[in-house]
Amino acid sequence: MLFVCLGNICRSPAAELVFSALLAERGLQHRFRCDSCGVAAYHVGQNPDSRMLAALRRAGIPYNGHRARQFQQADFHAFDLIIPQDEENRGDVLYQARTPADAAKVVPMSRWFPPECGLTEVPDPYYGGAGGFDRVVTLLRASCTALLEDLASRA
Ligand code: 4NP
Repeated sequence: MLFVCLGNICRSPAAELVFSALLAERGLQHRFRCDSCGVAAYHVGQNPDSRMLAALRRAGIPYNGHRARQFQQADFHAFDLIIPQDEENRGDVLYQARTPADAAKVVPMSRWFPPECGLTEVPDPYYGGAGGFDRVVTLLRASCTALLEDLASRA
C-alpha cells in the first residue's frame, strides 16, 4: 500500500514506518509492499521531519531511510491500495485518477480510525508542537493495526 500526505515528511512516512514495524513484528514484511509519498514536491529528496523522527523514536519505531517523493500517475498501477491522510490529499490523488479502477484504490486513512477518536482525518502536525507529532503516531499505530487486521482477514 501507498500512504499519501502533502509533503511526505510527517504523516505519510510515519504511517509507512508504523505499518512496516507492525509487519516486521508479525513476520509479514514480505507479504506487502509499503511506501509513502506526497502530493506536493516541496520536500522531495528530504528525510522525514526531525520532529516526526523524534516522535517515532519515542514510540520505538525504527526509521528505514525513506526520502520524500511526489505521487505520480504510475502509482495507480504499482499499488492496490492508496491511502491519503486527509481529505485534501484524497482530492489531489483522485484528481489524477484516469479510470474508476484507479479511483477505487483510494481509501482514506480514516477508514481504519478507532471510532472513539472523534477525527475524520490525520491532523497535520507541521505547524504545531511536539505533542501533535506524538498524537499522530498514536493515531497511526491504532489505524495501521486495524488496516493490517482488515487486510489479513481478506487474505
Ligand atoms: P505532511 O506535513 O504532509 O504530513 O508531510 C507537511 C509537510 C510540509 C508542509 C505542510 C505539511 N509544508 O507546508 O511545507
